[in-house]
Amino acid sequence: MRKSVGIAGAVVSVFICVGYSLAAQQQMPSSSFDLIRINHGQFIYGADYYPEAWNDSQWTKDAEMMHAAGINFVRMGEFAWVKMEPEDGRFDFSWLDRAIKVLAAHDIRVVLGTPTAAPPAWLYARYPDIAATDENGIRYRFGSRRNYCLHNPHFIEATRRIVTALAEHYKDNPDVIGFQIDNELGNPYCYDNYCLAAFQNWCRGKYKTLDVLNKAWGTVFWGHTYTDWSQVPLPWNTLFGVHNPSLELDYHRFFSESTDDYLNLQARILRRIAPGKAITTNEMGMFSAVDYSKLNEGIDFVAWDNYPMIRHDQADYFGPALAHDLMRGSKNNENFMVMEQEGGLPGWTTFWGYQAPPGLYRVWAYQSVAHGADGVCFFRWRTSTYGTEQYWQGILDQDSYPNARYKTISQMGKEIQRLTPLLEGSHVASSVAVLVSPDSRWAFEIQPLTKDFNYDLQLQAYYNAFRRRGVNVDVVFPKDSFAKYKVLVAPSLFVLDADLVRKLTEFVTNGGVLVLSYRSGAKDEHNVFTTETLPGPLAQLAGIAIHDYDPQTTQDQKIVMDGVSYPAGVWFDILTPQTARVLAAYGERYYAGQAAVTMNQFGKGNVIYVGTEAQGAAFYDHLTSRIAAAAGVVLGPQLPAGVEMMTREKPGRKIVFLLNYTGKAQSVSLGKAMHDALAGNAVSGEISVPAYGVRILTNP
Ligand code: GLA
Repeated sequence: MRKSVGIAGAVVSVFICVGYSLAAQQQMPSSSFDLIRINHGQFIYGADYYPEAWNDSQWTKDAEMMHAAGINFVRMGEFAWVKMEPEDGRFDFSWLDRAIKVLAAHDIRVVLGTPTAAPPAWLYARYPDIAATDENGIRYRFGSRRNYCLHNPHFIEATRRIVTALAEHYKDNPDVIGFQIDNELGNPYCYDNYCLAAFQNWCRGKYKTLDVLNKAWGTVFWGHTYTDWSQVPLPWNTLFGVHNPSLELDYHRFFSESTDDYLNLQARILRRIAPGKAITTNEMGMFSAVDYSKLNEGIDFVAWDNYPMIRHDQADYFGPALAHDLMRGSKNNENFMVMEQEGGLPGWTTFWGYQAPPGLYRVWAYQSVAHGADGVCFFRWRTSTYGTEQYWQGILDQDSYPNARYKTISQMGKEIQRLTPLLEGSHVASSVAVLVSPDSRWAFEIQPLTKDFNYDLQLQAYYNAFRRRGVNVDVVFPKDSFAKYKVLVAPSLFVLDADLVRKLTEFVTNGGVLVLSYRSGAKDEHNVFTTETLPGPLAQLAGIAIHDYDPQTTQDQKIVMDGVSYPAGVWFDILTPQTARVLAAYGERYYAGQAAVTMNQFGKGNVIYVGTEAQGAAFYDHLTSRIAAAAGVVLGPQLPAGVEMMTREKPGRKIVFLLNYTGKAQSVSLGKAMHDALAGNAVSGEISVPAYGVRILTNP
C-alpha cells in the first residue's frame, strides 16, 4: 500500500464572491451551491486568512486591504484547534469572534474550518494512540498535521466535542455562512489495531460469511484461507511487500468509506446544531485515495484546492482543467468553489514550485470560473513568517506591501463584480464525458501495469484532444447517469461490475459513442480476472476478441490509421475483430498488420476500442475527429498551443472564456460576432487574446 500525499503533492485554489442580488433567507436553493451563495448574498471572492498568526493590531489594516481588492470572503480556523480549545474541555472563541467582527465591518463574510486536521499537542499527550500507525506498525509521533487514526475512539470523541462547540458558538452568527470540514481529508492510511478491527468488521458486513470472502478474494492462492475473522489482515508491510489484490481493493474502499464516515460524523453535528449554514470540505482534484463521488453526498457543495504551478510545468493548463471538471463531476456537475486558488509561488520546506508572472494568477483564477466555479478564494492572504510553509507565498509577502499579485487580484475583484449578473445562473454543459472508475484507478495502483502506465494520463490524453478543439468535457463516475452525453470515453476500464456493464450497454444501444481502451473488462468487482475471452463482459459491445497482448515492448511500435503512422507504447492489445471494423493496425513485431483500434456498431451507437496508447497528441486529434463525426459532436476551432476555450451557458446566453497561458498574444477565430463582456464592445473575426490574458465573450 502506497502512502497518499496531500495537496502539497497535488494541486490547489480561492472563493469569488460578488454581488448576487439575493435577499438571503427568502431564496430557495435550486442547487447545492446556492446555499452558500444565498448565505453570502454575493459572488464569492476571497482569501484564506490566519488571523491567529498575526497581531490583532494588523487585522483592521488587512480587512481594509481585502475590501479594497474586492474580497468579500475569507476561510479561516481550519488549523486553530488549540486556539479554540486551549485545554481539554475549555473553549475560547473570543479571538475568532473579534476577527470575524473586524472582517464583517468591511463586508467580508466567513467560512470556518472545523479544526480537526490539527489536533492539539495536549490531546496527543493524553491519548498518544490518536496518531496514525504506518505500515510497519510504527506510530507516527506528534508534529506535522493530519496525523490521526480515523477509527480511534478518543479522537472521534474529541472531534465530536470541538465540532459541537464550534457549531453551538456560531449557529446564530450571520457572518459565518458555512463550515469547511477538516482540511484535505483522505490521508494518512493507518494500520493500527483500531483500523484492523474496523476493517474486519467492514469485511464481515460486506461478505457475511468467511466462506464468501475466501471465495471472492481467491484466498486459495498461496494458502491464505482465513478460518476466523480476526485473521483478516490490513495491507501492511509484508515480505516482498505484496498482498492479495482483492484484499487491497477492499481496503481502498474501506479507507474511502471510513473517510466518508468521518466527514458525515461532523456534517451531522453541524446540520443538527446550525441548520442553514452551508457545509463543504476542501478537496484535491485528481487525488485518488477517496472516491469523491461518494464523499460528496455528505456535503452541500464542492470546494477544492487548485495549485496549477506546483509542478514546474507552466504549459500544463489542461491538468488543472481536468481536475476542475472532475471536481464539478463529483457532485452532479453543480457549480463549485475553489477554496484555495494559487495566489503566489508554491514552496514547502523542501521544494519550490514555479513563480508565475503576476498576470497568470488571474488567468488561473478565471480558468476556475470558466469551469464552473462560483467562488474563488486565494491561498493565502499573506505568506507565513512561521512554520513549514514559510516559502509558500500568499497574495502578500510577509511585509504586506501591495505588490503586483495584490494588484492583479484587485483587478479581478473589480471585474468579477461587473461580471456577476452575467455569470449568475450559468453552468457548464457538455455532450462529451470521460468516465473515472475509482475501482480501476485503485486496481492499477495495486498492480501497476507497465512502467509508463498512468491511469490519469490516459484520461488526460482523450480529454485534451477534445479540449484542443474547445469542446467542454464533463467527468462522470460509475454511479452517474450517462444518458445526456453523445460521447463517453472510458479508458482502461480494468475493474467493472454487472451494473456498469448494463449502463454502458444501454448508453450505446440508445445511440451513444463509447470509447474504451486497453485492459478494459479484465476484472470483476473483486479485482479477480475474468475467465471470459477479453474484453470479457465488454466483448460483445466492442465486437472484438483479444487472444494475445504485449506489455510494453522494448522495440518501437507504431499504429497506422488512414495511412498515417503514429508511435505507440505502454501496452498492446492485439485485437481480433468479430463484428467490428478495423480503424488502425499495428506496424511492428509479430502482430504487424493486426488490429490496434476498432469500431463496432451496436444498437443505435458505436464502440471504439483502442488497444494501445499513442505517444503524442496527433493520434488523439485524428481519433477525436472520427469520434465527433460518429457522434454528431461539433468541434470548435483548432486552438493555438497555450490557449484554452471553455463555455458556460444559461438560457439565451453562451459565455465563452478564452484563456491565454502564454507570454505572447494569441488569436482565435470564432467565426461569429460576439460581445466582449470585459471591454464592453462588439468583436468579430480573429479575436486576439493578450499575453497572460483573458477574453470573456457572449453572444450579442
Ligand atoms: C494545502 C493545504 C493548505 C496549505 C497548502 C499549501 O492546500 O490545504 O493548508 O498547506 O496546501 O501547502
